[in-house]
Amino acid sequence: MHARSGHVHLVGAGPGDPGLLTLRAHELLRTCDVVLYDQLVGAGIHAFFHPDAERLAVGKVGHGAQVAQGEIHRLMIERARAGRAVVRLQGGCPTLFGRLAEEVAALREAGIPYEVVPGVSSALAVPAAAGIFVTERGRASSLAIVSAHTCGEDREPYASVAHADTLVVLMGARGIARLQRDLLAAGRSPETPAAFVARGTLPGQRAVRSPLATLETAVHRAGLGAPAVMVVGEAARASAPDNVVVEDRSSDILVS
Ligand SMILES: C[S@@+](CC[C@H](N)C(=O)[O-])C[C@H]1O[C@@H](n2cnc3c(N)ncnc32)[C@H](O)[C@@H]1O
Repeated sequence: MHARSGHVHLVGAGPGDPGLLTLRAHELLRTCDVVLYDQLVGAGIHAFFHPDAERLAVGKVGHGAQVAQGEIHRLMIERARAGRAVVRLQGGCPTLFGRLAEEVAALREAGIPYEVVPGVSSALAVPAAAGIFVTERGRASSLAIVSAHTCGEDREPYASVAHADTLVVLMGARGIARLQRDLLAAGRSPETPAAFVARGTLPGQRAVRSPLATLETAVHRAGLGAPAVMVVGEAARASAPDNVVVEDRSSDILVS
């Protein structure tokens, strides 16, 4: 179904590889009048935007400038009220560590009809692209997905989940030292396998594996940075040598 005038479609763009966009997201991007997109939406996805669509970049660049959340609400509501078909496009799945609930609340309050279109989340797709299957049978039967950002909350983000078999950490590229410290303090073994996968599913994807105690050093030595997903647990030990990497996206696993 085409994007609908006067509606806002809150859509997941997947982890970056255009092939991981859903069919629904593709159809909406092809037919909408306005796209408000985050920085993590892969460049390859922009090719699907309608050529005449208004394109508004509203994402945060690293720890830098960001369009205020209230301004994003205002833009969505204003464009929808003008009868335009709006797509609000977020990296991965908008239900995971996005501002979806706030955006839905703003649209409801304004009486704007909306639709949520889930996407393929980096939390699962990025480890998979590096050959790490987060609940691989025999290695892991529980999984916790954690944000390293605590929005100023005075609590340790990992305390309650440190002992999940597999821990997947998003938004943690700058916080590896703290991740290591907190998990070790919570009793996780220094030898626990860990991995850091940068630019997963995108050209230039790279990954590093290391025991938890030396992950920060290994990542630093390899010169990797954001965006990245970290995986901690036995699942991170495994990596099929010729895994699901396709085309020119070398998984480039460096074992240290
Ligand atoms: C604000 S969160 C949003 C997550 C998104 N909603 C999802 O489901 O993937 C952004 C974080 O997702 C992770 N991320 C997103 N795309 C990635 C990619 N292609 N490679 C590695 N990490 C990625 C990084 O941890 C990044 O800091």
